[in-house]
Amino acid sequence: MESQGINQRVTGRASLSEVLCVIGARPNYMKMAPLLEAFARTQPRVPARLVHTGQHYDVAMNDQHFQALDLPMPDIALGVGSGSHAVQTAEIMRRFEPVVDESAPGAVLVVGDVNSTLACALVAAKKGVPVFHVEAGLRSFDRTMPEEINRVLTDQLAELLFTTEAAAAANLAREGVPMERVRFVGNVMIDSVLRHLPRATPADQTLGGQCPSGYALVTLHRPSNVDDPETFCRLLQTLAEVATRLPVVFPVHPRTRARIEAAGQQGWFAQSGVHALPPLDYLVMLGLLREATCVLTDSGGLQEETTALGIPCLTLRDNTERPITVEQGTNTVVGTDPERILANVEQIMASGGKSGRVPELWDGHAAERIAIEVARWLEKRQRRSA
Ligand code: UD1
Repeated sequence: MESQGINQRVTGRASLSEVLCVIGARPNYMKMAPLLEAFARTQPRVPARLVHTGQHYDVAMNDQHFQALDLPMPDIALGVGSGSHAVQTAEIMRRFEPVVDESAPGAVLVVGDVNSTLACALVAAKKGVPVFHVEAGLRSFDRTMPEEINRVLTDQLAELLFTTEAAAAANLAREGVPMERVRFVGNVMIDSVLRHLPRATPADQTLGGQCPSGYALVTLHRPSNVDDPETFCRLLQTLAEVATRLPVVFPVHPRTRARIEAAGQQGWFAQSGVHALPPLDYLVMLGLLREATCVLTDSGGLQEETTALGIPCLTLRDNTERPITVEQGTNTVVGTDPERILANVEQIMASGGKSGRVPELWDGHAAERIAIEVARWLEKRQRRSA
């Protein structure tokens, strides 16, 4: 046994135990795709199986992305669908537990901050299976955001925490996470941006030549913005105002579309002149992003992608869990005040807006660094238990 252990250490050829990799919602896919690829390429290879919880299930939110990102179809699909946070989280846990029991993985890897992230981390941790969290340590310090609760709790459960920016380690240290668990590796989401940018669909093709001299690209789906009728109505009016200055292109999230319909505002897009689009596949969105005059959003991912591409971004929230996009990148947190939003749009139109630089290690190689760390960690653990 012992001599085999030494042999493994020297040759580094031990086959590692399997990592169950979890995705659930759209923002997970662009993070997982480069990781699976890096796991297959690293030496020793990290055996991985992909589990999709089914938190997002629409074709528009799902299959298109898999194809665009070359993400393999999931090995295991839990098919949970929608529900309240409690119902969705509980259902994911209920369906994920037997998967962990049957496959006895070496680790469970989760990404980001969606309900699937926390639910699967919790199942694994309670079964003594190590949890790896990619995109750890981000904090908005706003506990009204469901994602903030998912972030804090997942980080408490994780054995290995991969961070995208320096502030994340400081947040984790403050919460008592031992620093030997933390690895600053960069941003896997930017791996996907850089890899797929050459294949991005030209904006002109998507917009049929309708916005030849620029446009604002808008996304909106946070409960704080779309579930409160007063805030949502104010934001829609502000977007209509923006559209009098600059064409506005708006791929509409299912949650947001549901709120517009519930408010009886189906006619709003036609009246406001805002170009509504369905949820877009990754390459189409990347093409729109690359050529946008500016982006107005409440998404976390877009704040990072605009920083990586040097596109001015106005974040329609009161805070961000990604401060580096403001400190070094092109992001400005403007909240939901109409005057502030319009003033910033006008400034971007007049002067090109805020310029920035690309943060450290947002270089397209974050997934490779994670794969190496994961392989080392698993090897070390296997040697110890040999
Ligand atoms: C979730 C994530 C959020 C992420 C976002 C990206 C949590 C807490 N939130 O929010 O962090 O930024 O995804 O999209 O995990 N729906 C469909 N089809 C789908 C998926 C959802 O119609 O494929 C509908 C649901 O029925 C629901 C609404 O959209 O009414 C919201 O979906 P849900 O997954 O609960 O949260 P998101 O707002 O998408």
